[in-house]
Amino acid sequence: MLQKPRGTRDFLPEEMEQRRSIEQRMREVARRWGYREVCTPDFEHLELFTMKSGEGIIQEMYVFEDKSGRKMTLRPEVTAAVLRMYVNEGRVIPKPIRWCYFADCFRYERPQKGRYRQFWQFGVELIGADTALADAEVIMLADDMLRSTGVTFDLHVGHLAPMKHILSGLDPGDQGLIMACLDKHDLEGLEAVLAARGLSHLAEPLAALSGCRSVDEVFEVTGDVPERTRIEETFGILDSQGVSYRPDFGIARGLDYYTGTVFEGFARNLGAENQILGGGAYRLAHLFGGEDVASCGFAIGFDRVMVSLGEVELPHESVVGVVCTPEARTRALQVARAFREAGIRAEVDLMQRGLSAQVAHAAKTAEFVVIVGKREVEAGTVTLKNLSTGEQKEMGLEDAIAGVAGHGHR
Ligand code: HAM
Repeated sequence: MLQKPRGTRDFLPEEMEQRRSIEQRMREVARRWGYREVCTPDFEHLELFTMKSGEGIIQEMYVFEDKSGRKMTLRPEVTAAVLRMYVNEGRVIPKPIRWCYFADCFRYERPQKGRYRQFWQFGVELIGADTALADAEVIMLADDMLRSTGVTFDLHVGHLAPMKHILSGLDPGDQGLIMACLDKHDLEGLEAVLAARGLSHLAEPLAALSGCRSVDEVFEVTGDVPERTRIEETFGILDSQGVSYRPDFGIARGLDYYTGTVFEGFARNLGAENQILGGGAYRLAHLFGGEDVASCGFAIGFDRVMVSLGEVELPHESVVGVVCTPEARTRALQVARAFREAGIRAEVDLMQRGLSAQVAHAAKTAEFVVIVGKREVEAGTVTLKNLSTGEQKEMGLEDAIAGVAGHGHR
C-alpha cells in the first residue's frame, strides 16, 4: 500500500470540518480589523528565501529545479512572498496595507506531533506603517485571533534592539549564531559559541536580558538604547488596552529579517512544539527591488492550534436521508432539492436498495428520513420519520422542511 509522504497528513471530513470552523473564526477576526486576504504561489524562486530568511529555514527548504533549470522552492513561510507581491503589485496601494493569508508552508523538518513538513499558517502583514501603534495593532490582532480559537496561551513581547546592543561590535555571522542559540533556547550551544569566540563575558548580560520582566529592567541591563522611546510607547499601548503579555527581551526569532518589535505565543497545554505564534517588525521590500518600507506581521501555526484545542465541538447539523421506491424517484429528487434549497443537507440513495435497506443505511448518518413512495407521489405529500424517536408522519413538503429546520442545523 502506498503511503503519504513523511511529515504530511490526510484529513478526513470530521477533521476538515473542525479545521474550517477554527479557520473561519480567525478569518472573521482578520476581517473585523480590516485585514484582507491575499494569495501567493505555493512555490517561488529559491532566492526569495535565501536572501534574508536565515540559515535554519534555508536548510529545511524543499528545493527543486524546474524543467528550464530554474532553482525553485516550495514556500517555507509566506512573509517574503507577500513582500515580493507588494513590490510587484502593491506599491500604488495607499498605505498602510493590511493583508492576511491562510496558506500551507513546507519545511523539511524532523516530523513529530505539532511539527510537520506541510503545515498551515494564518498570518497577517501590515505594510508601510512605521509606528509604535502599528506594532501594537499587530500584536493585539494576534492576541484577538488566538483568543477567538479558544486556545489558552501565553503571549511574549520583546524587541531586538537591547539584544543587538549587547551583541553590537560582533560580526553579523557571530551575531546570527548567537541569536540562533537564543531562539532555540540552546544554552549549551550558546555557551560553546561564546567560549569559542572569546565572548564568554556576554553570557551574563544575555542571561540578565532574558530574565527581565519589565521594560525598565531591560534598560538597567543595557543602558539607554536609541529605540527606548519607541519600545516604551509600544508596551504602553498594550498596557493601556489591557493586553495580557509578558515582556520577553530574550526573544531572538528564527528568521533573519526582523528589525524591531518581536513576539511569540505559546500554547499552555502543549509540550515541545508549543510555539503557536511568531511575528514582529521587519524590512524586506528593499531586498526585492522596492523602496525600504517598514512592515510588521505574524503567523499563527494553525496545526498546533488544532493540536492544542483537541476535539472541536461543532454545532449540530441535521441530515435528511431521502428514500423512495423506484417509481417515485423523480419526485424524490425534487424533494431532496427542496431540502437543499432550504439549506438542509439531504442525501438520496444511489445504490438501488429496497426501502427498508435505504432507511437502515440513512440511519447511520441521518436524523431524519423522508420517505417518498407511490402513495406520497399521488397525494403530493412526504412521510417524515424522526429516526431517533421513531415517530413518523405524512405531511406536506413545506411542513417536513420546517420540521427538520426546527430541529436545528447549521
Ligand atoms: P515562524 O515562527 O517561522 O514565523 O512560523 C510561525 C509559526 O508557524 C510557528 O510559531 C509555528 O507555530 C508554525 N510552524 C513553524 N514550523 C512548523 C512546522 N514544521 N509544523 C507545524 N507548525 C509550524 C514565520 O513563518 C514568519 N513568516 C511569521 C511572520 C509573519 N513574521 C512577520 N510576518
